[in-house]
Amino acid sequence: MRKKIVAGNWKMNMNLDEGHALVAGILKGLPELNADKQVVIAPPFINIQHTFYQIEDVDYVHVAAQNCSTENAGAYTGEVSAHMIQHAGASYVIIGHSERREYYNETDAMLAQKTDTALDNGLKVIFCCGEPLSVRDAGTENDYVEAQLKAGLFHLHKHQLANIVVAYEPIWAIGTGRTASSQQAQDMHAHIRSVFAAQYGQAIADGLTILYGGSCKPSNAAELFACADVDGGLIGGASLKAEEFLGIIDAMMQA
Ligand code: PGA
Repeated sequence: MRKKIVAGNWKMNMNLDEGHALVAGILKGLPELNADKQVVIAPPFINIQHTFYQIEDVDYVHVAAQNCSTENAGAYTGEVSAHMIQHAGASYVIIGHSERREYYNETDAMLAQKTDTALDNGLKVIFCCGEPLSVRDAGTENDYVEAQLKAGLFHLHKHQLANIVVAYEPIWAIGTGRTASSQQAQDMHAHIRSVFAAQYGQAIADGLTILYGGSCKPSNAAELFACADVDGGLIGGASLKAEEFLGIIDAMMQA
């Protein structure tokens, strides 16, 4: 059985106190997780270590960074390396979120480099892909997402795929309140899995966790997570309230 994950991407929200209270609220209502059903919390860099201390004794809850540098160390003012992130207690890093691709001009080549430095430093990667509305309207979303995955990930060796999670996040559904229908999500997730099967073989593809992201909330999570190829979610807005995030975690537990 492949791993299911609900991951909360706080984006640039929550100061230390607010983050502390949010994590405390999540832990208070958290169901018993297991190796196949895990939770990831991605606070801003500055909260990572504190969040790690809050969750370190809780099984199957992990901390993620929302980004990492392409570089390992050196004169790169303002950057944070994968090594530092790992050392602060995170076990995942989100790479290639559409907001970083768009607002910070992150290219496919940079994302491939970030993926390498993350894996080299013992982090697992949540690699984001997803098309803008114009591409969806043109009906070329499968090719678009496939190209993103090839450029960012397909230089990896088979054995590294165990440390990769893919998050499909259609840009038109992020923060817009407009969710992909469960059929749209399932179709794309099945496509993504087939692309990995062609490159790495069916066994690797079958073991790959593929998350859906984009206006996922307690009211639609169960339907999305019931899809055969949807293995959980990458949650933005609804991860900022303990009750909503727990509602989505519950949907994963029942899926
Ligand atoms: P949203 O964001 O849940 O607020 O749509 C998802 C994401 O960007 O990861």
